[in-house]
Amino acid sequence: MSSAVIDIPKQSDVDYRIPAVVGRSLQVPLVTGEHIGYANLDHGASAPCLEPVQSAVDELLPWYASVHRGAGFASQVCTRVYEGARDKLRAFVGARRTDSVIFTRNTTDALNLLGRALPRGTSVVVFDTEHHAALLPWSGPRVRRLPAPETPADAIAALDAALAECQEGPRLAVITGASNVTGEVWPVAELAKVARRRGARTVLDAAQLAPHRPVRIGELDVDYVAISGHKLYAPFGAGALIGRADWLNAAEPYLAGGGATRLVQERSVSWTTGPERHEAGSPNTVGVHALAKACETLAANWPDVVEHEETLLRRLRAGLRGVPGLRELRLFDADHDRVGVVSFTIDGQDPGLLAAALSAEHGIGVRDGLFCAHVATRRLLSRAGSDADRAVRVSVGLGTTAEHVDRLVNALRRLVAMGPVWRYEQVDGRWVPADDPRPVPDFLG
Ligand SMILES: Cc1ncc(COP(=O)(O)O)c(C=O)c1O
Repeated sequence: MSSAVIDIPKQSDVDYRIPAVVGRSLQVPLVTGEHIGYANLDHGASAPCLEPVQSAVDELLPWYASVHRGAGFASQVCTRVYEGARDKLRAFVGARRTDSVIFTRNTTDALNLLGRALPRGTSVVVFDTEHHAALLPWSGPRVRRLPAPETPADAIAALDAALAECQEGPRLAVITGASNVTGEVWPVAELAKVARRRGARTVLDAAQLAPHRPVRIGELDVDYVAISGHKLYAPFGAGALIGRADWLNAAEPYLAGGGATRLVQERSVSWTTGPERHEAGSPNTVGVHALAKACETLAANWPDVVEHEETLLRRLRAGLRGVPGLRELRLFDADHDRVGVVSFTIDGQDPGLLAAALSAEHGIGVRDGLFCAHVATRRLLSRAGSDADRAVRVSVGLGTTAEHVDRLVNALRRLVAMGPVWRYEQVDGRWVPADDPRPVPDFLG
């Protein structure tokens, strides 16, 4: 067994002052009967809650009351919390003074909102490598999908050419900050520059970038940014669309209902302008407060956050290089800038079975599949020369330690060398441990 364990250099003894996450001492059961500290290597899907975010939520909850319409003192406190959060998000992304901050459920919701707010006849250009949240909200004959580029320079040239061919009228270029499949960072500022030159607006899908790097609207010169709280260590159901107010103020309200209206009469409605136009219904004050706190916390800690993740990512990729038959998925060069996400296949290994065994036998949470980016992942698999129809994705963040990374690498080497110790079966297309003996937490009943 020891031959399957590799010796990875220990993490330097840098004392990162990164914010702690809730659940960092969570123990999970293994099929073999023991319990082990949970290695959450799935931050790219949803990140754990930051402790300062949990404290902020705890602080707010006794005050929790209605927002906007309540006359009570607690309602007024909550209204200030909710409206104040807009300024905190504006500061987080360096938004222009006139930008709207509209609270949504997540990035998918934010991009769908923008999709519905586009002026009639808007041409949209989008790479088909996008996450479905950024690929699918645009419809009609004026949507142009660009194939996966070979290099960042190809991406810029392809966008330039596509925008040059657009018909007269408004134009929107959809740009991703960082890929949720490969972690690769896209040349956002350069793409935005080309778009600007061609008279197009840009929307940045920052779901995967914003938790890892500062995103500054002014420096990138993008028009809209979409983010998700649950990827930003604030898993309370809020996200946001931040950007130019004019299209949003002119669009039909995203949701029809209370809060979005100025005056309703028997046969007519006058809708309000500003963010409330698209936020009908009772808002998610707790989620918005949590998101604002997460943004403030990250903004106060960027150098350490980035260093922590880069150290872990280097360690992860170095370890994975030693796993026999492992093929990393990537669009650009191996040394291209990336956030802490790595997807791969291992020759002769079923990705779903690997993911199930990592969880059941090693207490490691990863994701397997096509990651809501079907076109992109299939293309990446084929580029990597893999014959698998899905991949394994590992993603690190503030809840990740060097031990988690080492445990993953050692577990993969062991699985490749010896196979799983447990028996697995497929249920509804997913591998699960046969006769899974792991107890679920008491609260599940
Ligand atoms: C790059 C990217 N964009 C958009 C989304 C959609 O985010 P959400 O599910 O929070 O709406 C994700 C989620 O994985 C993502 O990684």
